[in-house]
Amino acid sequence: MPNSKITGVGMYVPEQVVTNADLSKLMDTTDEWIIERTGIKERRFFKEGVDTVSCMATKAAKIALERAGKTAPDIDLIVFATLSADYNFPGSGALLQRKLPFRQIPAFDVRAQCSGFIYALSVADQFIKTGMYKNALVVGSEVQSNVFELSDRGRNMSVIFGDGACAVVLEATDEPNKGILTTKLHTDGHFAEELYLEHPGSRRKQRFSPDMIEKGELLPYMNGKLVFMNALKYFPEVIREGLDACNLKETDIDLLIPHQANARITAAIQKEMNLPDEKVISNIHKYGNTTAASIPIGLCEAWEQGRVKDGDLIVMAAFGSGFMWGSAVIRW
Ligand code: ACO
Repeated sequence: MPNSKITGVGMYVPEQVVTNADLSKLMDTTDEWIIERTGIKERRFFKEGVDTVSCMATKAAKIALERAGKTAPDIDLIVFATLSADYNFPGSGALLQRKLPFRQIPAFDVRAQCSGFIYALSVADQFIKTGMYKNALVVGSEVQSNVFELSDRGRNMSVIFGDGACAVVLEATDEPNKGILTTKLHTDGHFAEELYLEHPGSRRKQRFSPDMIEKGELLPYMNGKLVFMNALKYFPEVIREGLDACNLKETDIDLLIPHQANARITAAIQKEMNLPDEKVISNIHKYGNTTAASIPIGLCEAWEQGRVKDGDLIVMAAFGSGFMWGSAVIRW
């Protein structure tokens, strides 16, 4: 059975940098509050007409393909992780497919929010392991800046998130013990409403009503403290589950790439795993929480900085809305 390995990674973030000071002009918040609670100093906001989720993904995909030494027609499958697709339907995978000269390959979206990239990677990995496909493009891309309200009412969430995209090329390999060694995925839907955006959903007879905006019903809701507590439980648990499945230990980790939810969550995982700073990716200060894009952006920056070397053990892990969580253990 072949394994799949990442052979190219590319990222794109919008040009506009929005600092905490910029946000404090729009709402009752401060640089100190945001840094202390989240570690975020700045984030990127998309430009309408330029940076759609699929456009950003296309730019990232071009770089990933070039670095993998592939062209779009080489790709057999696109798995696109996002919670902020360009349209309600069809998914952004279909839009990406038409932007580059891909063949008429399967291209679909995965809805797993902050765990989207791990889920998408796992899906693509299964297709490659079964031999159905040889080359896959796995993407995480998000526009978050327009779902929150840049106001006092929206300040609890709007300061946390940012926009960006990243893509990886996943290829079949026969090299033993190389590539994705395992992925572990979990969901507990009992917590679905603890971090969610209810509208416009299909539950109501009328998906929109004129008073929804005024009532704030089109804004996401997050039970921040509960998310925090569960993240601290499930991140270490799913990392250990992945390592155990490969007969590996925490001390074997060369690089941990956690979903960039919050710098305090990353610091707590690092402490629990007993890992030094150089083995843990933390770039939330630059981009905020980019949801499905955060893990591959972390990988991309680490790769560009020469922090990912042949033979390294890379562990990725995520936790988020659903609640859904997961990990990927990779021998580079
Ligand atoms: N600026 C200033 N004050 C604020 C802001 C803001 N942006 N947002 C909220 N506040 C106020 C609140 O109104 C509250 O005021 P009050 O005491 O007068 O009522 C006070 O700050 C404390 O609010 P809490 O919500 O209790 O703040 P908390 O200490 O819990 O921090 C946070 C909030 C950062 C969201 C925290 O709960 C957390 O880190 N949660 C984890 C969730 C997370 O990281 N989510 C990321 C996305 S989900 C994911 O990726 C997994």
